[in-house]
Amino acid sequence: MSKIALILGCGKGIGTTIADSFHSAGYNVASVSRTPHTFPTQDRVHLVADFAIPDSIEPLFDQVEKRWGKAPDVVVYNAYANVLTRNDPLSASSKDFIAAFNINTTSPYSAAFIAHERNNNVRYIYTGNALNNLVDPNITILGVGKSASAHWIQAAAKAKGLRPAQFYYCDQRKPDGSPCYTGLRGDAHAELYLKLAESKEQGEPNIVFRA
Ligand SMILES: NC(=O)c1ccc[n+]([C@@H]2O[C@H](COP(=O)([O-])OP(=O)(O)OC[C@H]3O[C@@H](n4cnc5c(N)ncnc54)[C@H](OP(=O)(O)O)[C@@H]3O)[C@@H](O)[C@H]2O)c1
Repeated sequence: MSKIALILGCGKGIGTTIADSFHSAGYNVASVSRTPHTFPTQDRVHLVADFAIPDSIEPLFDQVEKRWGKAPDVVVYNAYANVLTRNDPLSASSKDFIAAFNINTTSPYSAAFIAHERNNNVRYIYTGNALNNLVDPNITILGVGKSASAHWIQAAAKAKGLRPAQFYYCDQRKPDGSPCYTGLRGDAHAELYLKLAESKEQGEPNIVFRA
């Protein structure tokens, strides 16, 4: 039976390269975004959801299980939301803060909770950035969400009771080690994520890689 990868947040950016790579490696792949998309084959599907609503996560797992008869082996959380705060970190409305926090933290947390509940050997991989270690008043809301997620991911990786599942927060840096911001490499993420998907044991959960 083929393994299953669920890619949460997959469109024009690196998500598609990650989804294509898992598909080429023999996985059944379900990708998700707010924009509908169709695939002609049974081993690939695109589902529609809005992660600003955390309750949108569980039905995605139901749809995967209904289609392929089991829960995902790998869950990648790749979506994100930013609210520019332009040197005024308190300028975002609480409504915008909550929507962004849902997308950057609550929905990915919910995805990890459900993924583990349904498959205690799942590999959970979150696309992060340097904001778990860096404070920038222009991108405070994204930083709040990424750093919160980095925290619970590291806690999940540490908790022996959650094994054999594995949890990772991945941060691509430029070749000189500085934060990436732009120039994200889909191929480098895909190569790393495929390796983590096949990893036998939990490694360092906070992965900084240069590409
Ligand atoms: N290492 C770094 O320094 C660095 C730099 C840049 C980005 N990143 C991270 O890389 C990841 C992917 O970035 P990317 O450039 O590939 O972005 P992207 O193209 O926007 O990919 C994310 C996909 O998620 C979907 N999405 C966004 N909001 C959603 C929502 N509320 N509900 C459901 N789907 C949603 C979007 O599709 P729809 O619009 O169709 O929903 C989009 O295609 C992000 O997590 C980002 O924080 C890291």
